[in-house]
Amino acid sequence: MSINLLKGKKGIIFGALDENSIAWKTAETVHAQGGTFVLTNAPIAMRMGQIDELAKKTGSEIIPADATSEADLDNLVAKSMEILGGKIDFVLHAIGMSVNVRKGRAYTDEKYDFTTKGWDVSALSFHKVLQSLYKADAMNEWGSVVALSYIAAQRTFPDYNDMADNKAYLESVARSFGYFFGKEKKVRVNTISQSPTPTTAGQGVKGFNNFISYAEKMSPLGNASAQDCADYTVTLFSDFTKKVTMQNLFHDGGFSNTGVSQEIVDKFSE
Ligand SMILES: NC(=O)c1ccc[n+]([C@@H]2O[C@H](COP(=O)([O-])OP(=O)(O)OC[C@H]3O[C@@H](n4cnc5c(N)ncnc54)[C@H](O)[C@@H]3O)[C@@H](O)[C@H]2O)c1
Repeated sequence: MSINLLKGKKGIIFGALDENSIAWKTAETVHAQGGTFVLTNAPIAMRMGQIDELAKKTGSEIIPADATSEADLDNLVAKSMEILGGKIDFVLHAIGMSVNVRKGRAYTDEKYDFTTKGWDVSALSFHKVLQSLYKADAMNEWGSVVALSYIAAQRTFPDYNDMADNKAYLESVARSFGYFFGKEKKVRVNTISQSPTPTTAGQGVKGFNNFISYAEKMSPLGNASAQDCADYTVTLFSDFTKKVTMQNLFHDGGFSNTGVSQEIVDKFSE
């Protein structure tokens, strides 16, 4: 479906690691809709992932940036404007990592150095990205910034560990920064709360495979895939959603408003 929804729009896409990444699917979809962009990821991810392939496919340049480094972000914003030939219309923040999860530390046994690092990468980085864009006056009016969240910010999912706290912070930044970016520069800032999705980050969560089946059965429309998320994100980058800002938007097939589904009840009637 190509209707050139993003024709003439320019952006920055963080977080495409491999073809399963939500950011990867978003980059492909933005490209198909006529948008142009710079791809970025942490220097270490450049070595592990396949971002070169995506850059070739979408005619994009890659600028490495550690999203916890203000200097890297300032450089990314300045170079992106040079490459794209002007101010930016859309930004996708698709970054998440918990060191406690990676190292198998329980929520009740956090190592706080790990907690701080994970918070910096997953949550504070969103503020840093927004601040870098804001200070450089890099966004066009009616531009759109989207970050990806998860419902563990509102409700408890024990295996999500300290990422739950990081997502709560991330969503709060969208509201707080969204106020200033809206007021001063007419830029919208939102988070999408996405279904569990089989990506590198998603599969790092303990018990992910069982949980994704549970969510599938709890959601009247089924889980939203990475491609579904890419499609939704494109609408938020488009001019059809100009007055949507400071929101956390559930994109989960109805999971968030379902108390229990018949399939789950049936499991207990055996
Ligand atoms: N997969 C899920 O189930 C799910 C559900 C809801 C929300 N999300 C969120 O979606 C976003 C994208 O994750 P994904 O599921 O596509 O997984 P992914 O593993 O493909 O992407 C995560 C990305 O974060 C990048 N990253 C890590 N540290 C970084 C740093 N210091 N600087 C810059 N980039 C860094 C990684 O290199 C990677 O590209 C994350 O915010 C994640 O929490 C994922």
